[in-house]
Amino acid sequence: MIGYIFLGCLVCFVFGSPYIQTNLELSTPIIQQVTYPIDHAEGPSWDARKNILFYVDIHTGRVFSYHYNTSLVHYITLNGNVTPVVTSENNPNLLIVGLNRSVVAVEWDGTNEIGNQRVLTTVSEEFPTSRMNDGKADKEGRLWFGTMGAENTSTGALTPNNGVLYKITKDNLDNPAIEIAPVNISNGLAWNSANDLFYYIDTPSLTIVEYQYDDVNGTISNPRVAVNIRSFTNLTGSPDGMTIDIDDNLWIALYGGGAIIKADPKTGELLQVVALPARDVTSAIWGGPDLDILYVTTSRVSLTSDEKKYYPEAGSVFAVTNLFTKGRPVFNANIVDNI
Ligand SMILES: *[C@@H]1O[C@H](CO)[C@@H](O)[C@H](O)[C@H]1NC(C)=O
Ligand SMILES: *[C@@H]1O[C@H](CO)[C@@H](O)[C@H](O)[C@H]1NC(C)=O
Ligand SMILES: *[C@@H]1O[C@H](CO)[C@@H](O)[C@H](O)[C@H]1NC(C)=O
Ligand SMILES: *[C@@H]1O[C@H](CO)[C@@H](O)[C@H](O)[C@H]1NC(C)=O
Ligand SMILES: *[C@@H]1O[C@H](CO)[C@@H](O)[C@H](O)[C@H]1NC(C)=O
Ligand SMILES: *[C@@H]1O[C@H](CO)[C@@H](O)[C@H](O)[C@H]1NC(C)=O
Repeated sequence: MIGYIFLGCLVCFVFGSPYIQTNLELSTPIIQQVTYPIDHAEGPSWDARKNILFYVDIHTGRVFSYHYNTSLVHYITLNGNVTPVVTSENNPNLLIVGLNRSVVAVEWDGTNEIGNQRVLTTVSEEFPTSRMNDGKADKEGRLWFGTMGAENTSTGALTPNNGVLYKITKDNLDNPAIEIAPVNISNGLAWNSANDLFYYIDTPSLTIVEYQYDDVNGTISNPRVAVNIRSFTNLTGSPDGMTIDIDDNLWIALYGGGAIIKADPKTGELLQVVALPARDVTSAIWGGPDLDILYVTTSRVSLTSDEKKYYPEAGSVFAVTNLFTKGRPVFNANIVDNI
């Protein structure tokens, strides 16, 4: 499978032929490496006010900014495991990040020195070795942040059922609401354009689950499996981060699968496979001035030294264009305005 992906990639880079690209849809995605590799790029967010892509390197505690205007990359370093990073509605120089099991507000403009930091809340005291994983703000600026159990550093085995999806608002910081529990690895997160459906991934389940979503009350209900990765027999890997396009199709990063896929949650069908020159694809977000660039994050942290030679660009952010669709603006957090 890895060989198949690699060949597919090589062919599409060298020749760019529409006939050699996936036979599922006649399009020729253009894939460009836009940042230098880091260990585990994740949790991307697009700030349309600044043309900045924010992303993190979880285990080094770094929050990165990729500047579309200049192609420059900057970073700050926090003390712990950091993910995700979300921009704030009323203060363009305030980021909300997950740090270990906490939600932290950090002053940073994406270019200059880091400012103040303040812990807003800490969750999951009952799972002391768990940590924040993926998360996003909804249309009202509430945070949907999820956690995962610890992974054994030698075996990689996950401490099961230690994850929780929380809803964190400016009014419940002393006791964030539990929305989904237990989970193993909280991931994904997307809302449809009508803002009445919510999509969620618990990575080892290999499924994308759709919930009815009530934006006024911020509630989810009636889960159903919308996409089952197991049904895509030619693909490998596990669903990690996810975004949605203006046609309400999902773009799902396949960790271990060397690709990001487009799937229709209404039918569960696979619509497109975009192979990337990295095995572990972690997440994606639409960005660029026209929101038509799919920024895809990848990891190299689990690769052996031989695999790192095979995938020298693993850990980079890639800009994928020519996808014949685009995204909607990212929602900002509305939790605190100043710290
Ligand atoms: C990038 O350019 C846009 C358009 O000129 C501008 O609004 C934005 O502030 C710039 N971003 C930064 C970080 O300077
Ligand atoms: C995060 O966890 C690491 C490892 O346990 C610890 O060294 C660090 O102090 C923690 N960070 C914060 C802000 O508590
Ligand atoms: C990790 O797994 C190894 C092998 O099973 C075990 O010996 C070790 O105790 C585990 N470590 C933790 C922190 O659970
Ligand atoms: C988490 O993983 C464990 C081990 O595979 C499994 O037994 C459990 O059912 C999973 N939990 C959920 C919520 O899927
Ligand atoms: C939202 O909450 C209000 C007040 O509790 C309730 O009356 C209403 O039915 C809720 N809406 C939905 C869709 O659950
Ligand atoms: C899946 O792989 C098989 C065997 O290599 C091939 O015959 C088939 O065309 C592939 N299907 C798709 C949808 O790519």
